[in-house]
Amino acid sequence: MTPHNKTLKTLKTVLLACALACGAVQAQTYPDKPITLVVPFAAGGPTDVVARMIAIPMGKSLGQTVLVENTVGAGGTIAASRVARSAPNGYTLFIHHMGMATAPALYKKLPFDPLKDFEYIGQVVDVPMTMLARKDFPANNFAELQSYIKANKDKVSLANAGLGAVSHLCGLLFMSALETDLTTVPYKGTGPAMNDLLGGQVDLLCDQTTQTVPLIKEARVKVYGVTTLKRLSALPNVPTLDEQGLKGFEVKVWHGMYAAKDTPAAIIDKINAALRVALQDPMVKQRLADLSSDVPPMDKVTPAGLRTHLEAEIKKWSPVIRKAGIYAD
Ligand code: MLT
Repeated sequence: MTPHNKTLKTLKTVLLACALACGAVQAQTYPDKPITLVVPFAAGGPTDVVARMIAIPMGKSLGQTVLVENTVGAGGTIAASRVARSAPNGYTLFIHHMGMATAPALYKKLPFDPLKDFEYIGQVVDVPMTMLARKDFPANNFAELQSYIKANKDKVSLANAGLGAVSHLCGLLFMSALETDLTTVPYKGTGPAMNDLLGGQVDLLCDQTTQTVPLIKEARVKVYGVTTLKRLSALPNVPTLDEQGLKGFEVKVWHGMYAAKDTPAAIIDKINAALRVALQDPMVKQRLADLSSDVPPMDKVTPAGLRTHLEAEIKKWSPVIRKAGIYAD
């Protein structure tokens, strides 16, 4: 080894030791100021509902306020880029759904790498979806919806939250199952999309039960089916799309929590502990159960559990998306 290489090696060892020591010191005092939890879709929508539900108990555990901030646009990728570039100190956290796994195939120029630019905190919740229409839409059940679409395809609009959103994915799977092609209308989240569905400006929306269950129960929207293979306890009278003929139609949305790459492990452990406490909080559990959403088994609410799941989901969705030929530039 040349003297120059030897000096470089020593310098690297010193820097690494310093980084570990600094991380340990940072972790001891963490958190000593409010934490931001970035939501990649509009306020009031399903991801926002979950974020706000867990932010309060997480904040209580951590002894600091967890502030929810909505950074919207481009199907969640703007928020993901923001968090990937944030200081790796545990003060900027990110909650996102399976869009984290579909984005690498959907976006040709993705400004972040889900497998390289983040630390993983844990899986959060699993949420089914429902296929809905505005209240005065002519079709009263799924059979009527199919006939109506056949006869009026060009008149029917389908809302979604942009490329990478699960409402978009569910809509694509639905159109493919019905062998039809509807006019799609993108929003910055299904919160605003739902406002337009309630206002009668768009016809159809596939959206998560964390937003839709109360609206279905209050009959403010029409519902044609749920996207799970079994009926939901919160909506026992709503048939599955599978049982109505769309064999194998299944979308269940998983969520994960992330921080910027190189956030010290001791800080990730503290955040993970707070997330686990929040997900086991009786009030949170009850609210999620009322929305037919599930807390994953606790071995998935771990950094390794989330990372393994994300890897598997990227492998699952990438070929499907490539085959469908859906891309953003
Ligand atoms: C939202 O929070 O608005 C939704 O999760 C968007 C979507 O992915 O459909």
